Amino acid sequence: MPWTVEDNEMDAAQAVPRALTAPDVAARKGSGTPLVMVTAYDAPSARAVDGAGADMILVGDSVAMVVLGYDDTLHVTVDDMAHHTGAVARTKPRALVVADLPWMSYHLSRDDTVANAARLVRAGAQAVKLEGGRKRIDAVTAILDAEIPVMGHIGLTPQSVNRFGGYRVQGKTLDAAREIVDDAVALAEAGVFALVLECVPDAVARMVTDSIGVPTIGIGAGRHCDGQVLVYHDILGFEDRVMPKFVRRYAELGHDATSRIARFADDVRAGTFPASDETYHAADAVTEALGLYGSVEHASA
Ligand code: KIV
Repeated sequence: MPWTVEDNEMDAAQAVPRALTAPDVAARKGSGTPLVMVTAYDAPSARAVDGAGADMILVGDSVAMVVLGYDDTLHVTVDDMAHHTGAVARTKPRALVVADLPWMSYHLSRDDTVANAARLVRAGAQAVKLEGGRKRIDAVTAILDAEIPVMGHIGLTPQSVNRFGGYRVQGKTLDAAREIVDDAVALAEAGVFALVLECVPDAVARMVTDSIGVPTIGIGAGRHCDGQVLVYHDILGFEDRVMPKFVRRYAELGHDATSRIARFADDVRAGTFPASDETYHAADAVTEALGLYGSVEHASA
């Protein structure tokens, strides 16, 4: 029996909270409790995000920058995104798994767009996200026609970095703000279930949030959104190259990792790693037969 939004919150057979769906997320508009989305790109990060109770895991194309070491998001392919989406999905999170369609995967033709979205669904995503406003409505409609939920993304769209000339706040003039609101309305009318608003002034985000019937998820868009998203590596302090003002750091795990690994290196060089209890020992008789008895530690030691 398929679940619906009205069904029980628990999967009765397994007594575990059921996984969130795109309609569940859409229904949270105006609920008063902001939606939480965090990126993840592999099984450990997905388990951490889901264990923290996030509503959505975004397998973002930011993987290009924070995991794969590229300077922008333009270098990842559908193959890359499917690879990382699979790793996240195999953890079977309760959170909705949304995967980014990478640059040039929804720009060429309707068939190509739908096939690429389907690859991400087969890899384990329950929804896909794509960047752009009115000029991407055909792509949104094609994917929705294939029964795949779509999340929109407007404002600062990182796949447009070369056209924008850098990562800049969008919607600062009245005309630019109106363009963003019009894009948001068009995407909502086309049927997106939620919309990411990146790096826009809070007044613009408020206008968008008040103008559409699906949740807005902000990143650098202030508090007048229906939810917030941040990148895993930014929250935890794994990413040092760029530190936008909208990032709040909750840990410095990058530095912690370096200092812990330096301690391991010190122990190896000092000869204190591995210790006896970190070592497999043969039985005394075996050691003796090997002619080593007395020169190595004993199993019983
Ligand atoms: O790829 C990503 O991480 C994103 C977020 C910044 C929304 O698209």
